Amino acid sequence: MTETLGLIGSGMIGSALARLAVDAGLDVVISNSRGPETLGALVAELGLQARAGTPAEAAEAGDLVVATIPLNAYRQLSPVELAGKTVIDTMNYYPQRDGRIAELDAGEPTSSALIQRHLSESRVVKAFNNIDFRRLFTLALPYGAPDRSALPIAGDDAAAKAEVSDLLDILGYDATDIGTLADSWRSEPGNPRSTACPTSLGWRPRMSARTKRFAGSSKRQESRYPRAASRT
Ligand SMILES: NC(=O)c1ccc[n+]([C@@H]2O[C@H](COP(=O)([O-])OP(=O)(O)OC[C@H]3O[C@@H](n4cnc5c(N)ncnc54)[C@H](OP(=O)(O)O)[C@@H]3O)[C@@H](O)[C@H]2O)c1
Repeated sequence: MTETLGLIGSGMIGSALARLAVDAGLDVVISNSRGPETLGALVAELGLQARAGTPAEAAEAGDLVVATIPLNAYRQLSPVELAGKTVIDTMNYYPQRDGRIAELDAGEPTSSALIQRHLSESRVVKAFNNIDFRRLFTLALPYGAPDRSALPIAGDDAAAKAEVSDLLDILGYDATDIGTLADSWRSEPGNPRSTACPTSLGWRPRMSARTKRFAGSSKRQESRYPRAASRT
């Protein structure tokens, strides 16, 4: 079970995930390219469950590690530091931002397959790549909410996908398994599935032990989930 989330990248998506994770009771270790001393304001906002570190420290501390950096920096993710870890890849390929990435232009099936090839000793799962960082925060809803959103996940390792599904559940989302990393193009930008989809489209995950704990506390849910609170 995930107790600590390590974040490599603390920009728009990284900080939204850190906020959701802290609200859900997880510890977070956040990192960026410029060093922990530049993350003081975000750590202060997140509170005692958060600390800043280097990417190596985030990788070591995280039961799950999120790589949420511009795709053109993927070679700076350390295969050694991330060996043995489940790594969530939020990254998308935008040539106008990332420049051309030769392997992708030459027909590498997906950017996540490229990340997996680079992080050969890790278990890469693509997730959180098809939702805007603002909506990621505002669409989170407790387990069982009829209009809870489901986010697509893709990966080659079933156990890693189960871990990531549990994390989504804890953070306020159902998960829809769209297949392997080779299939992950389905959730890439510009594709019809690149939006959060309502659970009513299909699959509902089992309730994790941690979610069960939260399910009993409506007060906590109101403060955790802006959408649930605004309905009351
Ligand atoms: N924004 C969205 O709504 C959204 C939605 C879905 C997916 N995505 C994808 O998720 C990824 C992150 O997007 P974002 O919008 O959060 O980007 P962002 O706001 O530009 O943040 C990027 C973060 O990555 C850090 N970083 C860059 N190179 C690094 C390195 N070598 N080691 C450690 N940290 C590094 C940056 O740190 P410094 O500031 O110190 O350089 C910054 O904290 C992108 O691939 C993007 O395509 C974004």
